Amino acid sequence: MAAADIPREKKVMYNFLGSSGLRVSNICLGCMTFGRNVTLGSPSQQDEDSSHQIMDRFVQWGGNFFDTADIYGPHFSEQIVGRWLERRERDNFVVATKCNFPVGVGRNRNSVGLSRRHMTASITGSLQRLHTNYVDIYQTHAWDAATNIEETLRTFDDLVRAEKVRYVGLCNVNGWQLQKIVDTTDRLGLNPVVSLQQQYSLVCRESELEPFQVCKANGIGVLPWSPLKGGLLTGKVKRGVKPSEGRLGYVANNISPHGRSFEVFPHYNNFTNKDFDVLETAQAIAEQKDKSVAQVAIRWLLQKDVTSSVIIGATSCAQLDDNMGAANGWSLSQSEMNNLDQVSSVAQFYPYSSINQANVHRNNPMARDYVVRSKV
Ligand SMILES: NC(=O)c1ccc[n+]([C@@H]2O[C@H](COP(=O)([O-])OP(=O)(O)OC[C@H]3O[C@@H](n4cnc5c(N)ncnc54)[C@H](OP(=O)(O)O)[C@@H]3O)[C@@H](O)[C@H]2O)c1
Repeated sequence: MAAADIPREKKVMYNFLGSSGLRVSNICLGCMTFGRNVTLGSPSQQDEDSSHQIMDRFVQWGGNFFDTADIYGPHFSEQIVGRWLERRERDNFVVATKCNFPVGVGRNRNSVGLSRRHMTASITGSLQRLHTNYVDIYQTHAWDAATNIEETLRTFDDLVRAEKVRYVGLCNVNGWQLQKIVDTTDRLGLNPVVSLQQQYSLVCRESELEPFQVCKANGIGVLPWSPLKGGLLTGKVKRGVKPSEGRLGYVANNISPHGRSFEVFPHYNNFTNKDFDVLETAQAIAEQKDKSVAQVAIRWLLQKDVTSSVIIGATSCAQLDDNMGAANGWSLSQSEMNNLDQVSSVAQFYPYSSINQANVHRNNPMARDYVVRSKV
């Protein structure tokens, strides 16, 4: 399909990233599948030519937002994105990258975590590989229990002032960690956090219980990652059948060339009966609406009011086209959203169950809203 074949009304929409003034396409292209990936290792990783074709296609759909990380490869994904970016108008795109995981070679014990030392070295490397003077969003890839949060947040602030970074983002935190970051940033008068990348999909909704409530109350935009649970929510995996192809097949069969255990990726493995119940509900809705399951799963995320942009992954232009079909031009009805919410709901265990029960009749529309709601 050529660019002209994508009707204007199907192209991406633009959202503000949280309460910041930065505008991003409602679908972000995740670049984790670009280049050899020592950690992930899947044979469906794409070489540079194919990755650049996927990026070009994404731009034809109207997309402006790319997500990568120093650990993807390590470094190969950022290099592939950088070589694409240097031949384009840099200012037209929003580029996000991350740091925390160990990427150093040999015995460099400082090449990990969220210390001032590692973050400063890490952004320098990322900027070189990305062929740019600044990244739009610099994100912590995970919480670092070894570094005081003040050190990390002051370093972020300095990187913004040094014009190496435009906005500060986070990934993979729990509720108290996120609230602590928000409060510390306020207390020290630092640049605020604008986004949170978290695993979020029809089969992974636990973050609604706490982190997203902090996001909602503080104008932090959610960027769901693994919206298709690595491929499960495309329908390519059947109940009771071990996956054999793509990333999920690779993880399920534990065939790492490095002899690594795939226990580090439990979220791409060991699917439950409930996951398949959710998938079947999404499949039924997809059939009725003449959409793919992937489109229904991504659309459900786009209609959650905390979402700023959904980070998709694709190993071909055909997969990209399928997923981009969720971006615009149609929506899930209230009853379809309700069905999906119901079948995928997270068990309400204590103390959430007690808190909910105590607040059944406490709806005050003027009070600050913490609850994740659907837009229809
Ligand atoms: N912050 C974090 O900790 C974190 C963690 C993970 C990911 N991320 C970000 O999120 C992005 C997306 O994550 P993800 O790749 O796990 O997303 P995903 O959408 O859950 O899975 C993508 C994978 O599913 C398969 N797939 C995608 N669309 C398909 C389609 N239409 N039909 C059939 N198969 C399809 C492909 O794998 P196969 O072709 O191999 O089957 C593809 O690589 C990453 O690129 C990265 O930027 C962030």
